[in-house]
This record gives sequence, C-alpha cells and structure tokens, in this order.
Amino acid sequence: MEILFKQKRTSTTEFLIVGVYENDVLSETARKIDAYFKGNLMKALVSASFKGKLGQSYLFTSLEENEYPKVLCLGLGKQDDKTEEHMKEIGAHAYKLTALHKATSVSFACDTLKAELIGFGAKITSYKFNKYKTDVKDDFSVSEFYLLTKDFRTAQAEYEKYFALNKGIHTARDMVNEPSNVMTPIKAAERASELSKYGLSVEVYDEKALASKGFNLMLAVAKGGINPPRFVVIQWKGVPEDKSTHAVLVGKGVCFDSGGISLKPANGMEDMKEDLAGAATVLGTMQTLAMRKAKVNIVGIMALVENIPSDKSQHPGDIVTSLSGKTVEVINTDAEGRLVLGDALWYAQERFKAPIVIDLATLTGAIIIALGSEYAGLFANDDELAKSLEQAATITDEKVWRLPLCKAFDDMVVSQIADIRNSTNVRDAGSCTAAAFLKNFIKDGVKWAHIDIAGVTMAKKDNIFCPKGSSGFGVQLLNKYIEQNLEK
Ligand code: BES
Ligand code: MN
Ligand code: ZN
Repeated sequence: MEILFKQKRTSTTEFLIVGVYENDVLSETARKIDAYFKGNLMKALVSASFKGKLGQSYLFTSLEENEYPKVLCLGLGKQDDKTEEHMKEIGAHAYKLTALHKATSVSFACDTLKAELIGFGAKITSYKFNKYKTDVKDDFSVSEFYLLTKDFRTAQAEYEKYFALNKGIHTARDMVNEPSNVMTPIKAAERASELSKYGLSVEVYDEKALASKGFNLMLAVAKGGINPPRFVVIQWKGVPEDKSTHAVLVGKGVCFDSGGISLKPANGMEDMKEDLAGAATVLGTMQTLAMRKAKVNIVGIMALVENIPSDKSQHPGDIVTSLSGKTVEVINTDAEGRLVLGDALWYAQERFKAPIVIDLATLTGAIIIALGSEYAGLFANDDELAKSLEQAATITDEKVWRLPLCKAFDDMVVSQIADIRNSTNVRDAGSCTAAAFLKNFIKDGVKWAHIDIAGVTMAKKDNIFCPKGSSGFGVQLLNKYIEQNLEK
C-alpha cells in the first residue's frame, strides 16, 4: 500500500473518508459535504446513532448524481487529543475501514489532523504475514491511500522518517513471524547483511570466530543444536567525523528456545520461535536509523543461537567461563537468554566503549505474570536513562514499567561453586533476578537499560496496529529514544 499526499481528492478514488469528532462535531471537510447535501449528512449520522467515537464508522451515499459518490464517516474521538498515539490510531481505523469496504484506493481528508502520522498508523496496520497461505483467493490489498491536506508537501517530507520506521517494524515483525526452520541464526544474519545496502556496516562472526574470541556462554547454549550460532555487529555512523559510538543496542536472538536439557512442556512451545525478538527489534531499529539517515552513531548487536536438547547439549550443573572471565554455573539450561546476553553485553562494552548500552530480550516468563502483554519490563542502573526511555515509551505507546535492581537480587544469583549461577531454583522475582544476572556483565560507569519484552512482542490476537503475531515492539520506542536524546 502506497501512502500518498495530495491537496485535493483525485476523482478516481472510490471512497472519501471524512472525520467526525465526538458528539458529532464535523471536521472541515465533513462540514462542506454536509452543506453540499443540505444538512443530510448530519441527519443521517444522528439517525444512525453515530456519535463520532474513535473508530466508529458510517457509510453515507446519495442516490442523486453528485461529486461525492461514497463518503465514509470515521469517528475521530476527542477533538483535543493531538497525541501521536491518537493520530496513529485514527490511521489504523481508516485503514481497517478501507479494507472492510474492499476499496483498493481511498482518500482521507485530514483537515487539521497530522497527515504523516495518520499515514504511518495506516501503513503499520496494513502489515500481513500470509506468505505460507497457499489459498490466496481472498488476498485483497489496498493499493493507494491518499492523505488530503493543505500542507501536503510538508506532510510528505515528514512522512519520510515514518516510512523508514515502518520498514524497520516490518523487518522486525517478519523475522519473528518466520518459523525456526526458516529463521535460523544463519538466515537471521543474512537478513542483517542484506541491509548493508542502506549504508549499515554488517559483520558476522561464525562459531569458529566466536570460539577464538572466547564467547563460551553463547557457545554453551548453541552447542546442542544443528544450526550453528552467529554473532552480528551492525554499525550505523550518521556522524562519521565523530569516532565515538553513542549507544549500543543488544538483542537476544534465540531462534528457537526448547529449553535445552531443561526441556519446556510441549504445550505452547511453538511460541518459542519468538525468542529472537530482541535481535529482530535491534535490526529493525538499525534499518530505520539508516533509512532516515539519523545523525547519530549507533551499534546494533544480534546474538543468534538456538537452544536444543541433544547429546551435544550443555547440562544443568555445567560451569562455563564467560567472555568476561566470570564463571557461570548453569542451573537451568532454559535460562539461556541471560547466558547469551552475558557475552554479548561484555563484547559490546569492550569493543565500542559506548556510554550507553540497552538490551532487549524475551528474557523471562515471569515478566508476563508481572506485567501481562501491555508493558515491557524496564531495568536500568541510571535514573536519567530510565526516564528518557519512559518518555519515549509514553509517546510511542510502546509502554515500559520500571522494576528494581537491588543487592538482594544480586545475592540470589551468586553460585556455591562458581561466581554466579543462571537460575535461583525459586520463582520469586524471576525477572529481577534475571536482570541481576545481566548486571554482572555491565562495567562500572556504563549506563545500562534492560528491557524484557517477553510479554509484549507477540499480539495474542489481532489488535489495532497488527494482526495476531509479532508486534515489532521496541522499534518505535528505541527510534524515539535515540531521536530525542542522542541525535545531533
Ligand atoms: N525465552 C524464555 C522466556 C519467555 C517465556 C519468552 C515466555 C516468551 C514467552 C526464557 O529463555 C526462559 O525460558 N526463561 C525461563 C527462566 C527460568 C528457567 C529461570 C522462564 O521464564 O521460565
Ligand atoms: Mn529459555
Ligand atoms: Zn529464551
């Protein structure tokens, strides 16, 4: 679907969408149409009990010969709500309404609404993942979505960055929606390499390179499976004259998490193809930064492995010396994400010496118990970083809720015979002890945030912005955080 900006409606579009605010306050265009039809639009709305609630719709057609063949009235909700979130939602509803009426082209009279955000909302909502459906009879798609606005040139220019953002979200969603027999570590690394065409530099380390560098935690997880691990380093240098890296993003990329020898129950295990979502979000964000040529130097890291039981797998009780030199007792092979991230975080700091490190991971089931599918868990060792992320989360509506790091949790991950252990054997504060484990791999003075996205990365059912499946959570959040805090 193409998002196009125009001043006036092209006569070829089948439908014209016009907005109506709560309590039937007509938008400018709706008012014009009402006047054209001598008040009949308003009469029709009232008789249909149309109240202008966000997402409510009414199809107005007149049998007489006229300029407006099919007018779709769309409820815009509260007139004073000018937030990004609200604009995106209007766009999402406009797209859904268009699809409902099987219109291949449509014009939306934006009037005073922010057209570029409406276009973005419509665009992300139009995402489909149906490549494995062989029955494509019903494969309808909207081809042109025109946004009518006086300032169409400005809106078009503003939309460029949302175009990039949509592409990044699309990449992240696709990567998570693919099954693990397709999206192996090698395949995921290839997807990253393909994005070098946008000006990203992409390095891929294979298992041999990882062994020679000493990524023993990552290799310990990877060794059970037939698909070898890959470690991907993606660099975006939007300020090439500045040699420093402003932040590193690190993503957990477990392409399938069976639990390993500490095998998970069969019921729901298919969902564990989503366990690379952190890495997918990092890749999507890097793509967005590159496509919109963000004035910032960011590194993205994807730590890609699969966690599979076999005669080659690591065992509960194994002790592994991490890249950092700390020894780790593996109590539970299903707590593999923190192992993989331990090495990835250490490498990120050693090599790039960035002041800020943010990791994203589908790390714990416990975060779903704590926060459900509405909020991601946020842990941070720096209040300012936490605040900035919370602000970005509020604007993008990719919500986060801060949870504590503390000495008591640190103590829970101390091992009897090694330095630390990857599980506590009790369920108490499962997300906090996971974060406490990761903190062992953070150097003094580095500002670090960990975002546990296990609850939010998948839409359990079709929701406003995406169909059931990957939500692409985090791309908007990270992009906004970087834009507001790190860009020159
Ligand atoms: N990938 C899982 C966490 C997860 C659960 C993600 C549900 C998405 C949905 C993680 O590797 C895991 O298995 N965590 C264990 C940790 C435990 C063994 C300490 C968990 O949460 O049960
Ligand atoms: Mn696991
Ligand atoms: Zn996992």
